[in-house]
Amino acid sequence: MAVKASEIDWNNLGFDYMDLPYRYIAHYRNGQWEKGQLTEDSTLHMNEGSPILHYGQGAFEGLKAYRTKDGSIQLFRPDRNAKRLHDSAERVLMPPYPEADFIAAAKQVVAANKEFVPPYGTGATLYLRPLLIGVGPNIGVKPADEYIFTIFVMPVGPYFKGGLTPTNFIVMDYDRAAHKGTGQSKVGGNYAASLKAGQYAHEHGFSDAIYLDPIQHEYFEEVGSANFFGITKDGKRFLTPKSPSILPSITKYSLLYLAKDRLGLETEETQISIHDLDQFSEAGACGTAAVISPIGGIQYNDDFHVFYSETETGPVTKRLYDELTGIQFGDVKAPEGWIYKV
Ligand code: PLP
Ligand code: COI
Repeated sequence: MAVKASEIDWNNLGFDYMDLPYRYIAHYRNGQWEKGQLTEDSTLHMNEGSPILHYGQGAFEGLKAYRTKDGSIQLFRPDRNAKRLHDSAERVLMPPYPEADFIAAAKQVVAANKEFVPPYGTGATLYLRPLLIGVGPNIGVKPADEYIFTIFVMPVGPYFKGGLTPTNFIVMDYDRAAHKGTGQSKVGGNYAASLKAGQYAHEHGFSDAIYLDPIQHEYFEEVGSANFFGITKDGKRFLTPKSPSILPSITKYSLLYLAKDRLGLETEETQISIHDLDQFSEAGACGTAAVISPIGGIQYNDDFHVFYSETETGPVTKRLYDELTGIQFGDVKAPEGWIYKV
């Protein structure tokens, strides 16, 4: 049963599924994408032999719609999500969903559920989950003949419960993705591979697991659900890991731009050793769901390294947060092409 907007406590949202009235769905059959439409049916119907179920042939995205002060609704860089889904689709041999149609579908599904875009000032947003999956009767390991593209939405609050209060993370002795594997693609298998480490982290009081490179187990990869960044002790440099097996985060690339263009920092994507955490005065996790989540400390074997503070957000992280969220909620001028009005 779809939820009612009047029942939602906008100020106390977590990051949980909610069955909203409308979602968008399109099918790929007979070698082409058919015209999609809105539906009220929140159940996907597929054959038991669907390759997504057995072999994980699928990819997803995450983006948000924001309510501005004047009551209008806007999306942040949906063209980047459309492009990344295209790239993920190619990695697992799916027919890409046309990027212009992705953006149109995103706008359509947000407009249909507009009463669920949280009020300006609550900090909450409407999260969009686009999903592209291989379906139909199959059993051998080969790409599907049929696909479903859908976008469903739900209002969300902070992904890590601290929000802008720092939380702690733990470096785990598991690999999430291989260098020539699927780490750059937003495919479900990467997340299945992260569940065990993620659960260990949560059960031990950490927000999430951090992964190191899968060869030397020395260099930072990313958090299970976000990228990583650090601010050097002189306050002048924004560093973020360079690796062939991490997700090309849209938030990370946005921060690289804002750190340089608006804050005047030097920026670099580079290898970051777990043995060199002392170079940083501040660190954070960044992503659509995570926004900017300050990292209080990182546990690595028996060492616990605290950055700025376990309870307070560092000044550079705060400025980056204000700039990014100011743009997303329409209070700060956005770089050309970053904002799409619904
Ligand atoms: N890394 C992983 C593993 C993620 O799941 C996400 C979330 O999308 C990110 C990084 C951040 O990417 P983005 O900023 O595009 O949301
Ligand atoms: C996002 O930030 O959009 C993500 O996909 C991260 C997580 C919810 C898996």
